[in-house]
Amino acid sequence: MPDDQSVSPSKVAIVGAGSVGATIAYACLLRGVAKQIALFDVNRAKVGAEVLDLNHGLQFVPAATLDGSDDVEVCRGADVVVITAGAKQKPGQSRMDLATANVAICRELLPRLLAVAPDALYLLVTNPVDVITYVTLKLTGLPPARVIGSGTVLDSSRFRFLIARQLDVAVQNVHAYIAGEHGDSEVPLWSSASVANIPLDAWSVPGHGHLGATERAEIFSNVKNAAAQVISGKGATNYAIGLATAKILEALLRDENRVLPVSSLLSGYRGIDDVCLSVPCIVNRSGVESQLPIPMSSEEEAGVRASADTIRKAIRSLGF
Ligand code: LAC
Repeated sequence: MPDDQSVSPSKVAIVGAGSVGATIAYACLLRGVAKQIALFDVNRAKVGAEVLDLNHGLQFVPAATLDGSDDVEVCRGADVVVITAGAKQKPGQSRMDLATANVAICRELLPRLLAVAPDALYLLVTNPVDVITYVTLKLTGLPPARVIGSGTVLDSSRFRFLIARQLDVAVQNVHAYIAGEHGDSEVPLWSSASVANIPLDAWSVPGHGHLGATERAEIFSNVKNAAAQVISGKGATNYAIGLATAKILEALLRDENRVLPVSSLLSGYRGIDDVCLSVPCIVNRSGVESQLPIPMSSEEEAGVRASADTIRKAIRSLGF
């Protein structure tokens, strides 16, 4: 845990005090991501209770203040606005099924947020996150670098966890990305995945597992179905997305130049245009600074293109 001196003097406003929004606030407090955290939700009782509960723990975390309200004013002057508000997946639903409802919520919220936080970076977590990121870009007219979706940071973390477990190595030593949609058309980038610079294709260490076609298929299936698996047991996912979002916020506010697979507008990336999806990006105080030309096999590249088409189709069907 960072000491109090390293807490960034910034303000993070979190929109939506459901389990995702509240867990992001909790993760931000634990990690000392910002000096000021604000929670905004239309449900006054809920936001009040979450803030009270979190405030009762302030003694145990790096110095920060936490406010909450059903009035958007609480977000005034935020350096980053994190949007989590919206309908969440029910068992059997895909993230795309939430598009119409959650785009309507964004239409209502964004002008009000822009009025109080015109200079903020906007970090979208609401699903379907790639669609919501694109729609936010169009509705706000903000520069693309300032509109960022949490994207496949979470999926990539699930991917790394499963590879690490299979090979019995620390998850921190696994480098592997999921690209494309944060959703059913996402693509595992096996060809560039490595452990300690050893490409997974060349991994052969006695006592440290095997990653053949069967194991790879199972790992990817588990990544893709991870949210559904958690939702079927407890109704929502919150901890991993909370930690992933706190990490993105750190990269932004501490100007880290960290490589993260966030969702952002692609313009001529491998011939893909006018769609938001995830590829590894350099993330710093300006937002998404650049999208990295990570090597892809032809199959992976075709998969990312197909994923772009899926997202674009959803965007067009919503009238954008
Ligand atoms: C998940 C939700 C956040 O994948 O989409 O857990």
